[in-house]
Amino acid sequence: MKLWEGRFDAPTAADADAFNESLSFDKKLWRADITASVAHATMLGKCGIITNEESDAICAGLKAICADIEAGTLAVEGQEDIHSFVENELVSRIGQTGKKLHTARSRNDQVATDFRLYARGAADRAVDALKALVTVLLARAKETSKYIMPGFTHLRKAQPINCGQYFNAYSEMFLRDIDRFHSLRARMNVMPLGSAALAGTSYPIDREMTRALLGFDSVSQNSLDAVSDRDFVAEYLFCASLAMAHLSRLCEDTILYTSDEFGYWVIPDAYSTGSSIMPQKKNPDIPELVRGKTGRVYGHLMGILTTIKGLPLAYNKDLQEDKEPFFDAETTLENCLAIYTALVKELAFNVNAMFEAAGEGHSTATDVADYLAKRGVPFRDAHAATGRLVRYCIEHNKTLPSLTLEEFRLASPVFEEDILSAVTTRASAEGRTSVGGSARQAVMDGIVSLRKRLRQY
Ligand code: ARG
Repeated sequence: MKLWEGRFDAPTAADADAFNESLSFDKKLWRADITASVAHATMLGKCGIITNEESDAICAGLKAICADIEAGTLAVEGQEDIHSFVENELVSRIGQTGKKLHTARSRNDQVATDFRLYARGAADRAVDALKALVTVLLARAKETSKYIMPGFTHLRKAQPINCGQYFNAYSEMFLRDIDRFHSLRARMNVMPLGSAALAGTSYPIDREMTRALLGFDSVSQNSLDAVSDRDFVAEYLFCASLAMAHLSRLCEDTILYTSDEFGYWVIPDAYSTGSSIMPQKKNPDIPELVRGKTGRVYGHLMGILTTIKGLPLAYNKDLQEDKEPFFDAETTLENCLAIYTALVKELAFNVNAMFEAAGEGHSTATDVADYLAKRGVPFRDAHAATGRLVRYCIEHNKTLPSLTLEEFRLASPVFEEDILSAVTTRASAEGRTSVGGSARQAVMDGIVSLRKRLRQY
């Protein structure tokens, strides 16, 4: 039965029904819908809007429906949307009393409430998945803090860095994502129920009671806004997009660093694939797919922003388009985070290749300039003198650490014997003791700080 058939002479056309329906995807909201309906019916009973017996019968009926869906004995199908499905099922089970459930509410405040309940869970799951990833990144950072790798700017070797510092950089990004999902959850935890279709209701409802039953922090303060607000969907999609951007950068690094050209890391066999024609290939399909799926999540963000931009107040059916992008982004984000957590756990390192590469490209030139500047040479002059040394190295096919003191002195008389130990790859990384720098102690301090911040969520 249609929820609204009273006013109509003729049934809707089959193709219009098929076009209009949302049950095929909003069935995901079944638990949220039943939970919100139980709270609503309880409140209606306590406020004397329906009798306690009616309220009890409705709640018992709803809970039985919930148990049957959970057990897989009740198929969620055959209605326009999840709200119609649950209500029709209730009426078919408990009869006329079931028809009182929809007193003092509309599907407009109902769907807004259900979706927030659902999205709240999705935000919690995103936080948990990100926490699992950061936990693995921190373990890898600790383990690899013994290793030196090249640090890049402009994808050109810049300075040697501590490998643990590299992983800590991603932990910082994902920790910001955790914080974003966490604060988004607090912002979305406002209850629209009680706004009815758009203008509120004339029944003596107790919104505070349903709020407490459903675990919302507060109730919405404007019914027109409450039924049409989908900011939380856009915000979730933005948070998911940024988390995917961070993951995609990690994927890009993985693809580069595990290539023959770089050869710093090894993707575990269990997380790579071969080629159907080229027997030698070991392809980074998983990082590539995660990088690719990032575009899809961005697309959903653009989609919802575009859907809401021209809507007149209050509810419009356009808003039914909020769910599929959300569900797809949620699945994509959760799957990508899970697979990448597993992959990072198994990454292997070519320790020597990373170390050798870190010393290439005159990557300790900054340390040479700093050596001079610390001994009174203005940094700009120290930079120029070191530039001359680098040119000398290029012309004579030498490296900075292989130069003799006499050769250093060609560029400046300030150099002493101790330049020879200051210009090595390890000394370069170890010398960067500033907070957050690449010295091993700074990396270990970074791990302690990240662990502490992670525990807040
Ligand atoms: N399926 C609808 C949605 O997702 C439920 C609300 C329907 N409300 C209405 N006035 N037709 O938005």
